[in-house]
Amino acid sequence: MRKIFPFMFCALLATQAGAQEISTVTTNTTTEAMMAYQPEIAIIPEPVSLIKNNGHFILPENITIQAGPAMKAVSDHLQEKLSAATGYFVSTNNSADSKATIVLILNNKVNPQIGNEGYQLSVTPAQIVIKANKAAGLFYGVQTLLQLFPKEIESAEVMKGIEWKAPSVEITDYPRVGWRGLMFDVARHFFTKDEVKQYIDAMVRYKYNVLHLHLTDDEGWRIEIKGLPKLTEVGAWSVKKVGTFGDFTPPTADEPRTYGGFYTQDDLKEIIAYAQERFVNILPEIDVPGHSLAAIAAYPELSCTPGAEKYQVRSGEKIMDWSRGAPPTALVDNTLCPANEKVYEFLDTIISQVAALFPFEYIHMGGDEAPRNFWTKSPAVLALMKREGLKNMDQVQGYFEKRILKMVEAKGKKFIGWDEILDGGIPSNAAIMSWRGVKYGVEATHKKHEVVMSPTTYAYLDYMQSDVMFEPRVYASLRLSKSYEFDPIPAGVDAKYIKGGQANLWAEQIYNIRQAEYMTWPRAMAIAESVWSPKEKKNWDTFFPKVEQHFKRLDMSETKYAPSVYDPIFNVTRTADKQILIDLTTEVKGLDIYYSFDNSYPDRFYPKYTEKLLPPKDATQLRVITYKGKEPVGRMLTMPIEELKKRAGK
Ligand code: ACM
Repeated sequence: MRKIFPFMFCALLATQAGAQEISTVTTNTTTEAMMAYQPEIAIIPEPVSLIKNNGHFILPENITIQAGPAMKAVSDHLQEKLSAATGYFVSTNNSADSKATIVLILNNKVNPQIGNEGYQLSVTPAQIVIKANKAAGLFYGVQTLLQLFPKEIESAEVMKGIEWKAPSVEITDYPRVGWRGLMFDVARHFFTKDEVKQYIDAMVRYKYNVLHLHLTDDEGWRIEIKGLPKLTEVGAWSVKKVGTFGDFTPPTADEPRTYGGFYTQDDLKEIIAYAQERFVNILPEIDVPGHSLAAIAAYPELSCTPGAEKYQVRSGEKIMDWSRGAPPTALVDNTLCPANEKVYEFLDTIISQVAALFPFEYIHMGGDEAPRNFWTKSPAVLALMKREGLKNMDQVQGYFEKRILKMVEAKGKKFIGWDEILDGGIPSNAAIMSWRGVKYGVEATHKKHEVVMSPTTYAYLDYMQSDVMFEPRVYASLRLSKSYEFDPIPAGVDAKYIKGGQANLWAEQIYNIRQAEYMTWPRAMAIAESVWSPKEKKNWDTFFPKVEQHFKRLDMSETKYAPSVYDPIFNVTRTADKQILIDLTTEVKGLDIYYSFDNSYPDRFYPKYTEKLLPPKDATQLRVITYKGKEPVGRMLTMPIEELKKRAGK
């Protein structure tokens, strides 16, 4: 069955009168057949409608793009991509030219079906035409077009000997939701301006349109604020440590505080312009009142707690006790004092400058995980409670959030915060970013808040992608297939309140851009399809073969990605006589697992896993590797038998 499928697929296409609605084919095939399926067309996120026709368009060596001045950002982008990889001569002109290679058209008469970000892409053997109502739609049409060309189109260097052909298609496409975000935590690890641009380059391929920059946290303050120089002189620098974040030894006075950095306002203007040219809005986040140790290290008078002058920017040492759940108990008071007027003056200065700098209509003011144990001991907070009639610490934080909300709105911006801000009764003009699952987002829609869904359950890119033995250790896991289940509009909500969805990359355990990319891809492909494609077009069995094609594209662009999806899942139980029994499964169908217990490195000539394994008596490790036919696709993994025994329990 598997072997004959590609032939059947071609035969099926050949019998049609030249056209085939691709999704009809893919959704009617069996899972097994899909395993051997190497899609010629592998667009992520899946378009709303795609009809494949006969024939191909082949790029000529002299490429002309017809585009008006209002489309300059799009034509520049296309011109740059095409010329970099092909080495061909690419020019853009505005005159109606029936011979242009690629024609970009802004509709004179709005096509209501495709909205502001949709497009229609027509590839025929004669020409490529992209039509949209707005330049953003043309940009997304270009992203789809690039995915139709061979993977080498993603190369930054000229690739010789490639036939630059794209299959004939008619595509109509538009997004499911308007906010398609990735959050990049530049506070825990400072990523340079160029690295942020590199991250933007990768995200726009998948039609993301919001980059949420988490600019401040206990570990660093990353944005220049004029008039508050210590935020970046002091707040941007920590001690570089290596090991397990959270358990680093507290820094000593002689360890240099040279790890970090910050963006000047000019740097941010450059990043914003770069993003805008790629139709990405930058959402700035100033995370308060918790997560504020870097600000307090710079300006200790912002704390309610005596002795805050001794506080330092966190270098990964333990500062919270999570053993009793959220909110945590702080060992160091990392909160701004809600009872100190200086805090509101400080925030007003910051919000004014952030509002002036960032054109996006929203400012994110954090609000998550603010510990209260120092507030309960603060005479100033207790006096505030009495004066304002606040009954508990949720209401104290609520008082703070409401004042900040007003400040943000006074600068002409909309306020968004993490879902904890609901607990203090924030008014419905605050938008909510739901991270503790979708539950708070659903509740927020019932209270008529705008909501962006970014739940840990599906969209936390800092979580491990396979077994803890094989990934940098983080406290939770999230496999690709689970991310793919993300639905930004869960049942029971009024969709009009859902602005969209977002995946979040926290960077406590990320020390460089390569690891940031590894954590982002391929899960951000799954999220991209969840926020762009119609729900009924989503199908894991057709999605994953596309991801595999995109792995090759990421290889061409030298973007790192995790191969963790190929790692087997280890389940272990005990037999009646207490021996361990190892059950191996794979997240992806159609893989073979080969293994050894003898410490040597298995390949496909080793025993193939077919049933649960009883380790030989003295074996100390199980090594496994996954193959697809004759090709190794997974990593060589070594699982200690002791670890499996521990997991099996007594
Ligand atoms: C969060 O993950 N603390 C928003």
